[in-house]
Amino acid sequence: MENETHALRLGVLASGRGSNLEALLEAHDQGRLAAQVAIVLSDRPDAPALDRARRRGIPALVIDPETTRARLKPEIEERYVSALREAGVDWVVLAGFFRIIGAVLLENFPDQILNIHPSLLPSFPGLHAPRQALEYGVRIAGCTVHLVNAEIDQGSILAQAAVPVLDRDDEETLAARILEQEHRLLVETVDRLAQARIRREGRRVLWGETSPGITRPNGGD
Ligand code: GRF
Repeated sequence: MENETHALRLGVLASGRGSNLEALLEAHDQGRLAAQVAIVLSDRPDAPALDRARRRGIPALVIDPETTRARLKPEIEERYVSALREAGVDWVVLAGFFRIIGAVLLENFPDQILNIHPSLLPSFPGLHAPRQALEYGVRIAGCTVHLVNAEIDQGSILAQAAVPVLDRDDEETLAARILEQEHRLLVETVDRLAQARIRREGRRVLWGETSPGITRPNGGD
């Protein structure tokens, strides 16, 4: 239809249980998300995330990384790009994807890849962030949705949510409290991205009022 707005199409990359993917799928099913998951890609055939998509008839493919190394090889990234392009994806969401994204994906989806991380970045990047937070002794932990760049967990921050660290917490209880906020924050941030144009000023991301997407300093889309 001529006047129909194009619903933002998401490609979700997930390696594991896929609870953040589930949060996006549920929000869409309940009409709380102005975006739809168009495809799910995984590096692991046993990832429960794949079934969450398939149950809803959403294509879910495994692209074998052909290495145990965290960094994807360029030729493998090309396969991810082809699958995402074929599915007409606008934004890529890393939702527990345990591989490092490299130049091929970044160049094909410039400032259009986002990640959810279970800490208040820039504190505690990398693995086991809730454990790092507990061991450090912070009283406030949380999660971050950020744009992905070439440095791990260092892209511009789109949104954050804080949770308290309680005396009785262990890694499991803290991670569970953070995860609840991850689900909420990821859905809200993707929904916001679907409805607002963001602008970058240095590292800062500023949220505009108008059409979806990102305005880059060079004026490109
Ligand atoms: C989440 O804690 C996310 O922040 C991190 O990996 C975990 C994935 O969980 N990047 P799930 O697969 O979405 O349940």
